[in-house]
Amino acid sequence: MARIIDGSTVSRTIQTQLALDVADFVKATGFTPGLAVVLIGDDPASAVYVRSTGKASQKLGMKSETIVLPSDTPRERVLDVVAELNEDQSINGILVQLPLPRHLDSDEVIDAIDPRKDVDGLHPANAGLLSLGRPRFVPCTPAGIVELLKADNTLTTGKHVVVLGRSNLVGRPIATLLSLKGEPGDATVTICHSRSRNLAELTRSADILIVAIGQPHFITANMVGDNSVIIDVGIHRLPESEGGGLCGDVDFSPVAARVAAITPVPGGVGPMTIAMLMRNTFAAARHSVASRM
Ligand SMILES: NC(=O)c1ccc[n+]([C@@H]2O[C@H](COP(=O)([O-])OP(=O)(O)OC[C@H]3O[C@@H](n4cnc5c(N)ncnc54)[C@H](OP(=O)(O)O)[C@@H]3O)[C@@H](O)[C@H]2O)c1
Repeated sequence: MARIIDGSTVSRTIQTQLALDVADFVKATGFTPGLAVVLIGDDPASAVYVRSTGKASQKLGMKSETIVLPSDTPRERVLDVVAELNEDQSINGILVQLPLPRHLDSDEVIDAIDPRKDVDGLHPANAGLLSLGRPRFVPCTPAGIVELLKADNTLTTGKHVVVLGRSNLVGRPIATLLSLKGEPGDATVTICHSRSRNLAELTRSADILIVAIGQPHFITANMVGDNSVIIDVGIHRLPESEGGGLCGDVDFSPVAARVAAITPVPGGVGPMTIAMLMRNTFAAARHSVASRM
């Protein structure tokens, strides 16, 4: 049976340390880091995530502000809200929760965020810095995956990493991160997507397989290598007829019986995303205060 990479524990450890660091920072500077989350519409999964970010920031001693807008909010109003948060000195991090309602262009909204407050790491300036090997804010889920690999003592140098999925949120940035010079990085990375051929052959050749495709139970035992490490980013609610719980993109039990290590769903990658959002927000606050001195 594989080692289970326990994201809940790693996330808790990181947040416990962060709470201490935030307390020291507030004492030293008199400034409380602040995160603003903009939620547009009533997507239930987004609402759960946004509530969790609010709770996590407060627990760490950071200011948290949630702006909830109706799903038919006009584009101009959304851009005004972002512009106000850009100017607000008490806010260091801005997260606009995706996906946005269809009448809004997510690229336009993300581009409007001050890149120094873009703690989700999706602004072109931050994506560009990452691809140049000068990461500032790394998107939270990929940053969390790197921490999970570290916690599992899985080295990436010289390994073949196969990333399934090429989204700007997960697949592309994790592929970039692990191909940068130096550990964690120095991997040989293959990115797969819906047009890739011979997928099972590619996934079987991975030392580390990162799956972010949004297809429940897609990766089966015959698609993985015996000694591989599997990171399952997917998260899906099962229908009531199948128990109604959560599952990932990987068919957990048969795959876990075969590989060296695996992240569970829930309790793997998910808890890391919030921890990394908090870490990015704290980093934004430190930079902001340092730049005013
Ligand atoms: N745990 C967390 O904190 C967290 C955070 C973010 C996302 N997620 C979850 O992770 C999953 C992926 O999210 P995302 O935002 O990256 O998804 P996304 O934007 O929908 O991207 C999915 C990617 O998977 C590829 N793909 C889809 N079906 C495929 C198939 N059959 N074979 C090969 N490639 C396939 C797509 O290829 P094309 O580009 O060719 O279309 C695309 O690149 C979702 O389940 C999401 O809920 C979890």
